[in-house]
Amino acid sequence: MPVIACLLACTLLYVLSYFIERSFEKYVIAQNVTELNSVIDSLERELSYYDPEAERNDLIQNILLILASHYQLFVNITDENKNILYKTRGPNLLQVRKNIDVENIIETHGSAIWNYDQHSYRIAASSVTAADQKEYTIIVAVSRDLQLEFTERLHNGLLILITISCVLVLLGTLLTIYLTQEPINRLIKKIGSVNSKSLNNRIQPSSLPAKYASLVDAFNDMISRMETLFQRQHNFTADLAHEMRTPITNLTTQTQIALNNARTADEYKEILYSNLEEFERLTQIITDMLFLAQADNKQLVPQLVEVDLSNMFAMMFDYYEYLSEEKDIRLKLQGTCPSIQGDKLMIGRAVGNLLSNAIRYTPDNQTITVTLSQVSNKLVKVVIANPGKKIEARHLPLLFDRFYRPDESRQRNGEGAGIGLAIVKSIVEAHHGRITVESDNESTRFIMTFPIPPKGKKSA
Ligand SMILES: Nc1ncnc2c1ncn2[C@@H]1O[C@H](COP(=O)(O)OP(=O)(O)OP(=O)(O)O)[C@@H](O)[C@H]1O
Ligand SMILES: [Mg+2]
Repeated sequence: MPVIACLLACTLLYVLSYFIERSFEKYVIAQNVTELNSVIDSLERELSYYDPEAERNDLIQNILLILASHYQLFVNITDENKNILYKTRGPNLLQVRKNIDVENIIETHGSAIWNYDQHSYRIAASSVTAADQKEYTIIVAVSRDLQLEFTERLHNGLLILITISCVLVLLGTLLTIYLTQEPINRLIKKIGSVNSKSLNNRIQPSSLPAKYASLVDAFNDMISRMETLFQRQHNFTADLAHEMRTPITNLTTQTQIALNNARTADEYKEILYSNLEEFERLTQIITDMLFLAQADNKQLVPQLVEVDLSNMFAMMFDYYEYLSEEKDIRLKLQGTCPSIQGDKLMIGRAVGNLLSNAIRYTPDNQTITVTLSQVSNKLVKVVIANPGKKIEARHLPLLFDRFYRPDESRQRNGEGAGIGLAIVKSIVEAHHGRITVESDNESTRFIMTFPIPPKGKKSA
């Protein structure tokens, strides 16, 4: 784009110079023609009164007076027999007839260019009848040498001026392009040098012009998000390996011990039962990972039926009664809400995970409260609140990540893998709902919202 603008500017300058030269030439021609005509007019007047018998000297005198104020102007006056009546020093104007049709100039009152002896002239001519009834031909020539020299100098001057201007415009354009492109090139280089190992590097906004600050900020933000994702991915892989290694180590150790000595059938049976538990734990991890992979690939398609959440929680309370009674924990359900469209098995799994977490993290002899409500004609809300230790705010958004557990060392204490909430989130989102968590000194609250199906829409 700047190159096109530069080319246009140069072309414009050349066109401008062409018109300046043409206008000057026209002006000069007009000047010459006016001068020639005025001299011819004066000479015609003198000749028309001319009496060759009495006034020859007077005539010469008057012609000299007429020509006095004209520089480089030449005259030739001849009678019908080509006898010279008057002629100035200088070019032999009788030669004009060799190249130029003088009669035509006389007829048309025109002028013509006459090049003679390496000089150039503009000539005009006229025919006049004197007092003695003789016909005289006047040829007047004005030198164009000075004008041609000046025109040539003007042409060369303009050419040099315009060429310098064009070079300057071109250099200016190239400099502008360079100054605009250079920071972009630096940015491209820096972006190009980013790889998975240098994700903690940021581009300093001060290293680029201020106009690129928002671009740099956006890029740095993107890198921050990528760094977080990479870190999470890294943790996920490490945690998955760790989770699978524990049961496999247990299996290996138990099998080695069993093989070391001869055992009774009951002892072997006990070892096999213990191994079965580890196999089940492995199976559970793999099943959960497959479930989450399906959710990631949007392959989790709920089989929608009408789900009454009050019934669902009542049923789940029965299921977890044994677990809660062990810790003297009461399960309380309050409020109501309209039914939602959902996959009963999936919703049951999500509710089960949330309740088992609540029971696991609630101190003994406390109450877990589930509150159902309708927040608008489009949304129902489910809040599962349990007392217990406050979860620090920085952990809250990460609780739904796979294998994320808030304990600093991220060590397992054998209680759970840390996949439960990731599964709950996938299920809620597959139902077009949302899940968030809040925690303070009073309680930890998991809040789910689900859309209410439009009236009249029945499940398949
Ligand atoms: N109701 C709750 N009260 C307090 N902390 C909770 C609660 N629910 C979850 N958490 C915290 O969130 C972490 C992640 O929960 P999540 O259900 O994903 O994993 P988990 O219960 O540790 O293991 P898993 O569910 O795979 O058996 C838990 O380790 C716990 O620290
Ligand atoms: Mg859990």
